[in-house]
Amino acid sequence: MSKSLQAIRGMNDILPEQTPVWRYLENTLAALLEGYGYREIRLPILEFTELFARGIGEGTDVVDKEMYTFLDRNEESLTLRPEGTAGCVRAMLEHGLTGGGQVQKLWYAGPMFRYEKPQKGRYRQFHQIGVEAFNQPGPDIDAELIVLTWRLWQRLGLADAVTLQLNSLGSSEARAAYRDALVTYLQARFEQLDEDSQRRLTTNPLRVLDSKVATTQALLADAPTLHDYLDDESRAHFEGVKARLDAVGIRYEINNKLVRGLDYYNRTVFEWVTDKLGSQGTVCGGGRYDGLVTQFGGKPTPGVGFAMGVERLVLLLETLDLVPASLNAPADLYLCAFGEPAELAALALAERLRDALPTLRLLVNAGGGSFKSQFKKADKSGARFALILGEDELASRVVGCKPLRDDSEQQNIAWDALSEHLAARLGAGSSL
Ligand code: HAM
Repeated sequence: MSKSLQAIRGMNDILPEQTPVWRYLENTLAALLEGYGYREIRLPILEFTELFARGIGEGTDVVDKEMYTFLDRNEESLTLRPEGTAGCVRAMLEHGLTGGGQVQKLWYAGPMFRYEKPQKGRYRQFHQIGVEAFNQPGPDIDAELIVLTWRLWQRLGLADAVTLQLNSLGSSEARAAYRDALVTYLQARFEQLDEDSQRRLTTNPLRVLDSKVATTQALLADAPTLHDYLDDESRAHFEGVKARLDAVGIRYEINNKLVRGLDYYNRTVFEWVTDKLGSQGTVCGGGRYDGLVTQFGGKPTPGVGFAMGVERLVLLLETLDLVPASLNAPADLYLCAFGEPAELAALALAERLRDALPTLRLLVNAGGGSFKSQFKKADKSGARFALILGEDELASRVVGCKPLRDDSEQQNIAWDALSEHLAARLGAGSSL
């Protein structure tokens, strides 16, 4: 027997019951971002592999183990984007959008791909909404990004469910000096490290700080800390970020071990985390990446941004019962018609109603059927009223308006008065 067709592991269908909450999240965030002056950019899903290898960094898990890379028919190595920042920087350079110190404030949304072990909150195709700002070197913009995510949590009702972790990685020189100190400290204790951390010590030593293994964490308790290696400018920058968060009243926790999984960061890094989703609790992460544009061959251009995981936020909204009930509201009306002349008149009437009431949710019966079967469908649809058009109604140019959710009487309404009648009758709780 042939194997039934299935989606690829870790790549999910987003079914019609789920799309309203996705749209709610996307629309809420898009409106908020536009309010802060960020404009949308749409980027390709496929890029040359080299972009990510150079941007995210060899030695990171994403580049070494998680990319979907293949040769196309032209023997060029392409990769399904594992994240959006590298492609965004590429687009800036390619179109000359950051030249001459031009400020760019951008956002994007879409699928990303990483070959990770699928589990709750971690998928191989997942979705991000990301934000990037260019040519703004000060702490004010780092703070603005954090403030706007904080405002999003408020709008979604998530403010009490997430906490902010904050750190500074310093300049690339400070980070390199710290890396050396950390390596020296950990080399002396190599045998006590877990296997993964032993490997990371040569590939990407700062990632050892991220280890979840208790014995490694215990070893790290006395390790040199990043904070001690911060250069003065980065220290002042970090103070500037904190002062702004304090001014708005945003609470944060300084986490010296927060280094992020991508190599391009310097100075500010942050993550919003929740304890409501098990082990995949980071719903949003980002930071400053002032060196990335030059790494791609451009002129020095400060950059800072973040991305949030849409699946994790949807899960969080569902877990905390914060999906607004109105999102899955049924139709307002179900229009039944009996016999072809009535069906033709019903269709014309339905379109007139849509002209008059553009947000009306109106289902028109399709496929004919008896009174009984059409009413059954009307009832099942969840609509509040059935509109009825049979031979008699057609002859007297009226339509029956039958409430489906209470016992009130059916009324006959003249066609010409129908939209006004419905606007008054449907009122609150409808789509009007
Ligand atoms: P990231 O931390 O790799 O950063 O990803 C950002 C967010 O995407 C995570 O916090 C998480 O919510 C979500 N995410 C990541 N991997 C998965 C997965 N396998 N399944 C579900 N959700 C996932 C970046 O990608 C950076 N480009 C962010 C950035 C923008 N930094 C500066 N600008």
